[in-house]
Parts: sequence; structure tokens; C-alpha cells
Amino acid sequence: MKRVFSGVQPTGNIHIGNYLGALKQFVELQQDHDCVYCIVDLHSITMPQDPKVLRENIMDVAALYLAIGLDPKKSIIFVQSMVPGHTELAWILMCNSYTGELSRMTQFKQKSRDSESAPTGLFTYPILMAADILLYDTDVVPVGNDQKQHIEITRDLAERVNNKYGKTFVVPDGRFLKEGARIMSLDDPTAKMSKSAENIHSRISLLDDTNKIKKSIMRSTTDSEGTIHYDMGSKPGISNLLNIYSAFSGLGVVEIEKKYEGRGYGDFKKDLVDVTVEAILPIQQRYHEIRKSQELIDILKDGAEKANTISEKTLTRVKEKFGLGL
Ligand code: AMP
Ligand code: TRP
Repeated sequence: MKRVFSGVQPTGNIHIGNYLGALKQFVELQQDHDCVYCIVDLHSITMPQDPKVLRENIMDVAALYLAIGLDPKKSIIFVQSMVPGHTELAWILMCNSYTGELSRMTQFKQKSRDSESAPTGLFTYPILMAADILLYDTDVVPVGNDQKQHIEITRDLAERVNNKYGKTFVVPDGRFLKEGARIMSLDDPTAKMSKSAENIHSRISLLDDTNKIKKSIMRSTTDSEGTIHYDMGSKPGISNLLNIYSAFSGLGVVEIEKKYEGRGYGDFKKDLVDVTVEAILPIQQRYHEIRKSQELIDILKDGAEKANTISEKTLTRVKEKFGLGL
């Protein structure tokens, strides 16, 4: 079976874009892949974090992972900082990366804004990500398009080391999302739904209550035409809502258009509230059952142990190739 690895930062507000674009795939991949899913807390401290909130966010993501259907019997689920191999391999890879290639990363350029006081960790972020992936001999990395550059540098590093030291790493492939899987912001359908947007009604978080979901959908931006018809170019608002409706109901967009022929946006939005709540409620129920449980802690400890076993094996191989240690 092919090995899958992916990670999500514990930065709060996991929304339906994250779910439909990424997390749902994680669940599907479990069926015929050997999956490793990580909560990348070390990546999240490249930006300032409140320690108490970070801990809570880590547990929130872990509970959500399980609530959406990740199965600890099939997948390894763990917290990055509990497996020391990630930072160790990152150092070794850093010594084989170039400051030039890291300077070209768009995420670094965006987040550092040329500031002299940008954290060094923000600069080396892609190397830690490469270490996450290469540590597990990963074949496939399911991620959003925004991660393309990071996957490229991971592949470059793996090939560079393989050329220099002999076959050391598996060269991984990215598995990128289809355009339709991109969920847009509810208040500005030309921008991606995001965790950090100021307006909470721009997104539906997986942990929003029914009232909040209703408010966000009912006030979402549409157009003045009044016909429920898919056209991302001229009707991005309604098209985005159609995508969400389709993803949660399993109905095709054309079928939904037919169903709402001659009906108004109000009707459609009301039904979309029901469809969304119906899809999210079981996830929330499972989340609340597990969030404060000992079971969750046990699963993460067990996951870290399994991850550590693989990590140590890889590092032994890498150190051997590099002539490190005894
Ligand atoms: P992030 O929110 O940047 O931590 O992203 C976590 C995962 O969710 C990544 O694989 C993203 O590509 C994916 N993702 C984030 N926002 C969206 C969105 N609006 N639509 C679809 N996928 C998304
Ligand atoms: N950089 C990824 C993001 O922001 C998170 C991440 C860290 C990741 N390490 C990874 C994703 C390894 C896939 C594989 O979405």
C-alpha cells in the first residue's frame, strides 16, 4: 500500500473549506492507503501563539480528525512535537538546502513582508515540512494548491540528497485539489474561505452552532439576478453555494439547479442551511463525545509511538548515509 502523509496546523476555526477541500479526502484515502496524519504544532509557532490556546487547538483538531471519520486503527494520528525526528531531520535537510530557494517561497515573502525581524522559523518552514514528509517514506501528499511550492522543494531536496548520498528518500508526489473543491468566502465569493478572515460570517466553522450557520448562509453575498444557476464567472456567490450544497447533499449541481427552477434565493438558502446542518451535526456530536476523553489522549500517545518507530528507522538510514554518529 502507498504511504500518505498530510498535516494540518492547529490554528483554530477549521471550516467547511478545510473539510471539503482536504479533510474529507484524508478519510477517503484511508480505505486503500497507509495513512499518517499529523497535527503540525511546530509549524504553527512560526507565528505568535498563546500557549493555552495552542494546547486547546491541538486537541480540537485531534478530536475533529476522529469526528470526521479518521480511524486510529487504519491511520496513524499524532502531534508533530511529540516525535523528535521531525526537527532532527529538518536540520540535516537544512544543511542541504539553499538560502536562495527558501527566499523565493511565496508564503515566506507574504508572511515576512521583508521584515528584518521575521522569525527564522518562518524562513525554514518548508524544510520542516519536507522533513515531515520524507521521514515517513511518503508516496502521496494530499494538500491544497497553495502548498505546491512546498511540495516542489520537498521533491528537490529528496532528489538532491539521493544524488549526493545514494538512494535515501522516497520522492513524494503532491495530490492537489480540483478547482471545484475550493470553497469561497461567503461574504466575498472571489476570495477563498479562510480561518483568519475577520468577518466570522465569511466562513462556516465545523464547530459553529445551528444559529450561526443559519445567519452566515442567509446573509451570504449573491447577486441581483434571482436565478439559481451555476456560473463561477458572473455568479460566484450562488455558484459557491451550489458547490457547498452539492458537496454536502451528494446531488449534482445540475440536479440542484433543476430542483430550484423558478424559486428564489431565500428558499434555496433556507434549504442549504438544513443540508449543511444535517452534514455537520453528526461530526459535532462525535466531536463533543471525544474532545475531553481519555480515549483521545491515548490515541495521540499511541500514534506518536507508532510514528516514532518509523521516524527512528528513517533517521538511522539517513545518519548512516551521511556518516553521522557512530
Ligand atoms: P489551512 O487552512 O491553510 O491550514 O489549510 C488546511 C487545508 O485545507 C489545506 O490542504 C488547504 O489547502 C485546505 N483549504 C484551506 N482553505 C480552503 C478552502 N477555502 N477551500 C478548500 N480547501 C481549503
Ligand atoms: N504547510 C501545510 C499547510 O499550511 C501544513 C503542513 C505541514 C503539511 N507539514 C506538512 C501538509 C506535511 C502536508 C504535509 O497547510
